[in-house]
Amino acid sequence: MKASSLSFQAAVLLGVVGMLWGIVMAASGDHGTMPAHAHLNLLGWVSLFLFGIFYHLHPAIDRSRLARVQSGIWIVATAVLTVGVALVHTGRPIGDPIAAVASLAIIADMLLFGWLVLRRERIGKVAGA
Ligand code: HEM
Ligand code: HEM
Repeated sequence: MKASSLSFQAAVLLGVVGMLWGIVMAASGDHGTMPAHAHLNLLGWVSLFLFGIFYHLHPAIDRSRLARVQSGIWIVATAVLTVGVALVHTGRPIGDPIAAVASLAIIADMLLFGWLVLRRERIGKVAGA
């Protein structure tokens, strides 16, 4: 599967879960887990969809294993971060180290994405594109 397809499909899935979460918060009047909802949507729906657009615009990167790995790590780490933050905000401190590990994975994965972007820019310059 291309990295863009993986990103788009997972983004929609995480977006649907994030929005259902928002509807449950609104309907119940309990906004206690708001940061988990916010980050599930922002990392899972918005950021992942943006990665998908970038990969789709650069077919050579889109077909690479590294891009799929970047997208896959983001998906898993976002899910783990969301669970960790939700645990913290429902009074379970065990969520704290879970969210901490996931956040480090997310920033490392962002650096990996940055490297893919930079590499593409360099290759583009050499090829005169
Ligand atoms: C069906 C869709 C959605 C519903 C029903 C919903 C509902 C909510 C609710 C009830 C809150 C708590 C507000 C508060 O306590 O002040 C909230 C906060 C938030 N939501 Fe959503 N949401 C939805 C979709 C989204 C999406 C798609 C995003 C991001 C792309 C998003 C980002 C946020 C953010 C960033 C906050 C925190 C806002 C703040 O700091 O005050 N939400 N949402
Ligand atoms: C590793 C990634 C990230 C970590 C560890 C992180 C951490 C945090 C923390 C600790 C807060 C304060 C929450 C609170 O007051 O309870 C926060 C708030 C916020 N962050 Fe992030 N963040 C990350 C990525 C992002 C990204 C990528 C976006 C936007 C695209 C974003 C948007 C926001 C917004 C809108 C708020 C205010 C709403 C809220 O309290 O949830 N964050 N973030």
